[in-house]
Amino acid sequence: MNLINVKSLKKPQVKTLFEKATFFKQNNVQNTLAGKTIGLLFFEASTRTLCSFELAAKRLGAITLNLNLAQSSTQKGENILDTVKNLEAMGVDAFVIRHQHLSVFEMLEADVKAKLINAGAGTNAHPTQALLDAFTMQQHNKNFETLKIAIVGDIRHSRVAHSNIELLTLLGVKDIRLVGPKAFLPEADMENCQCFTDLNQGLKDVDVAMTLRIQKERMQQTDMPDTNDYYDNYALTQSRMQSAKPDAILMHPGPMNRGIEIESAAADGPQSVILQQVENGVYMRMAILDGLFS
Ligand code: CP
Repeated sequence: MNLINVKSLKKPQVKTLFEKATFFKQNNVQNTLAGKTIGLLFFEASTRTLCSFELAAKRLGAITLNLNLAQSSTQKGENILDTVKNLEAMGVDAFVIRHQHLSVFEMLEADVKAKLINAGAGTNAHPTQALLDAFTMQQHNKNFETLKIAIVGDIRHSRVAHSNIELLTLLGVKDIRLVGPKAFLPEADMENCQCFTDLNQGLKDVDVAMTLRIQKERMQQTDMPDTNDYYDNYALTQSRMQSAKPDAILMHPGPMNRGIEIESAAADGPQSVILQQVENGVYMRMAILDGLFS
């Protein structure tokens, strides 16, 4: 199956992905994708998602094709459907795509036989990030049924927040707190979520604190808060983490802006699992790619 949105996943499929990711983490590389070609099409910038998908595909024995869009015929006006169909004609079996618009995936699904993975769509969805985040929480023995999580920062423009809320709800999490200034909180109520503008209240007794980058590329310059004020009120710091449970973990999907949404000492401190998220990203993406063809 394709992986475009968390909504298309069922709980047993998520469980299988967790089991596969655990297997790949604990065992040597398998050549389960030998003979397959994975196309990487990133219409927006990426470090973690692009590199981890490329490593995941290669570790499973697949060939990768990373199209440099700046030098591609998209610059001459070719549309994404034609680009994808041409690469499919060359033998690409699956495409990992990051694009500004979620609707692109629906359009491609209707016309393309190759498998499709959403590697981040505008402000809407980043399902593979949500899967690796939940996998990381599970690795820290967090119980989804009783989990309390605070997602802090620019939730309104964050595809990571939207996919995490959907996935955590599917997994049975009942206490999701969305914390930030009013302009960064969702415009409409979200099922299962409580909004806070006070960070210390939002962090009280949580098991997981996840902070997000301000998505300045997705907002008007006039909506950008003063970064010093933002840091004073909303940055996750070691001292603020004391409101959370003593064994709480601190997460960030990256890229981080140190000194804006997170204190360096907290990012590199004992509660931070940020680099574990990155490491788990490779294993989760191996599980996802493997699952496409099994
Ligand atoms: N978390 C995430 O999607 O990072 P990149 O933008 O570097 O891929």
